[in-house]
Amino acid sequence: MDLKDKKIVLGVTGGIAAYKAPGICSLLRKAGAKVKVVMTQAATEFISPLTFRTMTDNLVYTEMFNDHPVVAEVDHIELAKWADIIVIAPASGNTIAKIAYGIADNLLTSMMLAYRCPVIIVPAMNTYMLNNPATRQNLQTLRDRGMIVLGTHIDLLACNDVGDGKMLEPYEIVDEIDTALRVKDLAGKKFLISAGPTIEAIDPVRYLTNHSSGKMGYELAREAYKRGAEVTLVSGPTALQPPKVSKLINIKSTQDLFDAVNENFDQTDVLIMAAAPADFKPKDKSSQKIKKEEKDEMTLNLAPNPDVLKTMGQKKKGQVLVGFAAESENELVYGQKKIQKKNLDMIVINNITAKDAGFKTDTNKVFIVDRDLKVEDLKLMTKTDLANVILDRTLEKLK
Ligand SMILES: Cc1cc2nc3c(=O)[nH]c(=O)nc-3n(C[C@H](O)[C@H](O)[C@H](O)COP(=O)(O)O)c2cc1C
Repeated sequence: MDLKDKKIVLGVTGGIAAYKAPGICSLLRKAGAKVKVVMTQAATEFISPLTFRTMTDNLVYTEMFNDHPVVAEVDHIELAKWADIIVIAPASGNTIAKIAYGIADNLLTSMMLAYRCPVIIVPAMNTYMLNNPATRQNLQTLRDRGMIVLGTHIDLLACNDVGDGKMLEPYEIVDEIDTALRVKDLAGKKFLISAGPTIEAIDPVRYLTNHSSGKMGYELAREAYKRGAEVTLVSGPTALQPPKVSKLINIKSTQDLFDAVNENFDQTDVLIMAAAPADFKPKDKSSQKIKKEEKDEMTLNLAPNPDVLKTMGQKKKGQVLVGFAAESENELVYGQKKIQKKNLDMIVINNITAKDAGFKTDTNKVFIVDRDLKVEDLKLMTKTDLANVILDRTLEKLK
C-alpha cells in the first residue's frame, strides 16, 4: 500500500451499502491517506455525517449552499482541486445517471463537473437497477470518459433478492485506489510469478507438501500488477484470497507447475519463482486409499520432480530469472551456488529459522544476491515492502 499523504475525496450516495463507507475511511486513514467525505442528502438518511467526521478527522461536506467558515471557498471547486483521486462508494444508480448527463444539482454532482483527477465509481444497487439498460449505458459513458468503474459481487442483497449488485468490500476498494494512484513503472512488461506450495499425491486421500503459505508470491504478483505489469500468477493451493492479476493459473503438483511455467515462459519478460515446489513425489501413486493393515512401518519410495528453475535457466533467451532459496543454515553459500547452477539473474535467500521471517509470516528478512555475486543484506520488512524492493531490482535488470 502506497497511500501515505494521498488526498482522497470519498463521495457517499444514498444506498444501503453506505454502511460500509466508514470501513473504507478506516483503511485509508490506517494507510496514511487524507480523506474528505462528500455526502448526498439521501446518503445522510442511511448514515450520519458525524461518523465520517470522526473517522476522517475532517469536515464532512453535505450542502451545496452553506455558511462555510472560509468565506471565499467554493466547496465543489476546492474539493475537486484538492483531490488526488475521487472515489464514489457506494455510487447509486441515480448519481451515476446524473454524472453521465453532467447534471450538477448537489455538491457531489457539481464537484463531478469540476473534477480533474482519476475517478473510481463503485456501483451498488439491486440487480434489476444495475441491469437496467439506462444504468448499463450510463456506466459505459463513464468508462468511455476514462473513469474506473468497478464491478459488483453476486450475493443475497439487502432487498432480499439474490443477484448481482452488492458493493465490493472496503479492502477491495482501497486496493483499487492504491492501484489507480501507483506509478506504472512496469507497464508493458510481462511477469510470470509462481507462489505457494505444491502437493504430491500419495493416494486419493493423502499427499506430501511443505509449509509455504504463498504470501511472498502473492505480494509480488499484487504489487507487480499495481505497478502496471501484465501478471500471470501460477499458484499452488493456498488459504489466501488471490490478488487481482491479469491471469491466474491454479496448480497442484510440481509437474503442473512445470507445465504452466513452461507454457508461458517464452512470452514472458520476467520469471519470479517464489513457489516452493516439492523436489520429490511418491514413485507409485496409489489409485485407491492405502489401507492401514497391521504393519510396523511403511516405506514410501520417492522419485524426483522436474527442476522448473533449472530448465527455464537453460531455456532462457533474455528473460530475467529470479529464484528464491529457503535455507536453514549456510544460506549465502547455498544461495550463491544455486544462482550459478540454475543460470539465474538474481536470488532471494531467506533463512527460515530467523525470527519473523520465512513461511507464513507477514514479514521477511532476506539477502538478495546478484549474478555477479553482489550481496544485499536487507533489514526485516513486510512482504509487501520486500516485494517492491525485488521488483525495483528486477526493473534495473530489465533496463
Ligand atoms: C432502503 C433504501 C435502499 C436503497 N438502496 C439503494 C441502493 O443500494 N442503490 C441505489 O442506487 N439506490 C438505492 N436506493 C434509492 C436511492 O436512495 C434513491 O435513488 C436516491 O434518490 C439516491 O439519491 P443520491 O443518488 O442523491 O444519493 C435505496 C432507497 C431506499 C429507501
